[in-house]
Amino acid sequence: MPEGSMGISNIATCTAPVNIAVIKYWGKRNEELILPINSSLSVTLHQDQLKTTTTIATSRSFQEDRIWLNGKEEDINHPRLQSCLREIRRLARKRRSDGDPGLDSTGLSHKVHICSVNNFPTAAGLASSAAGFACLVHTLARVFGIEAELSAIARQGSGSACRSMYGGFVQWIMGHQDDGKDSLAQQVEPETHWPELRILVLVASAERKPIGSTSGMHTSVETSCLLKHRAEAVVPVRMDGMIEAVQRKDFPAFAELTMKDSNQFHATCLDTYPPIFYLNNVSHQIINLVHQYNNYYGETRVAYTFDAGPNAVIFTLQEHVSEFIQVVRHFFPPETNDGQFIKGLPVNCAPLSEELKQIGLEPIPKGISYIISTKAGPGPCVVDDPTQHLLGTDGWPK
Ligand code: DP6
Repeated sequence: MPEGSMGISNIATCTAPVNIAVIKYWGKRNEELILPINSSLSVTLHQDQLKTTTTIATSRSFQEDRIWLNGKEEDINHPRLQSCLREIRRLARKRRSDGDPGLDSTGLSHKVHICSVNNFPTAAGLASSAAGFACLVHTLARVFGIEAELSAIARQGSGSACRSMYGGFVQWIMGHQDDGKDSLAQQVEPETHWPELRILVLVASAERKPIGSTSGMHTSVETSCLLKHRAEAVVPVRMDGMIEAVQRKDFPAFAELTMKDSNQFHATCLDTYPPIFYLNNVSHQIINLVHQYNNYYGETRVAYTFDAGPNAVIFTLQEHVSEFIQVVRHFFPPETNDGQFIKGLPVNCAPLSEELKQIGLEPIPKGISYIISTKAGPGPCVVDDPTQHLLGTDGWPK
């Protein structure tokens, strides 16, 4: 019988969010299990603006596991993908051997077809692997009928993916066991905790990042003594301070720790040998502008953080969003004025005072291609509407 003609035995579609770390993960103590040298903490971004959607189907007729990402078939033998598949199937088998009767129809021996898309451009250099692996693991668990702590499996796809398994404010506790069983993500506060907190992603460049996180952090662990000091002496204290700032909704404390930790992460990149440069001229200008703006008001109203690329992620409170966006628009005049500069949550735009036009350096036209306006959001979700499946009833991409 030809492949695909027997129909699918199980299908599920889920979505998962991107997260942005405010205490950064950089460096592994075990590369295969993806165990970090320090704990980290992130804010989960809202899926209305940034999400991955994944459909997974199982069928007796599928001859091999296959995966399609953003419309293109990719290599299923990628070791991290294999780790996630292996761990989920291990859990499913364990449940069946533990005597769960509901598992007959889950197609344990069946192959899977996986189809996944992002609602944002991969080329924008936004961390898509975290949302991608979180979504993969959440959807696999759904298809195989598993209800368990899943962040330790998502972690084996990409370290930062374990934090995308929860909404709101999430810590990844580094753990100390050799088998990694205690290296887990945990929600600190839900997405409803701090509704005034707003997030702006300033997309500085559409170029791909020069050195990926995985190889970058490998070289940092091998060569940077600043990174060792950071992991041992700085992060443990900062984690406590950050959790407290989040719980108390203390914006100035949250903002200061966020900026300092981003700066220290990029300092460890410079301390890596040979050095790694993720920030560009536009990133440096944004850093200056944020400090000048805060200085102008004599209080910390805005914070920046940067991952392994030049895009800035800005945290501020609702009441300051529209003015700060006008400041950004003034110092990085967009190519067109057609309203496409700001995507996502709507922003009121009032004119900017002459005084604020003086706080920065010379404007850099087109330095920022667009801004995504968003907020904290929920963790992975199940999509119940069958018309939303990315695979057809035959189990092939629609
Ligand atoms: C700078 O999670 O992408 O974004 O575990 O090798 O897949 P791997 O790395 P990845 O690294 C993320 C690094 C970071 C900081 C962070 O998200 O904590």
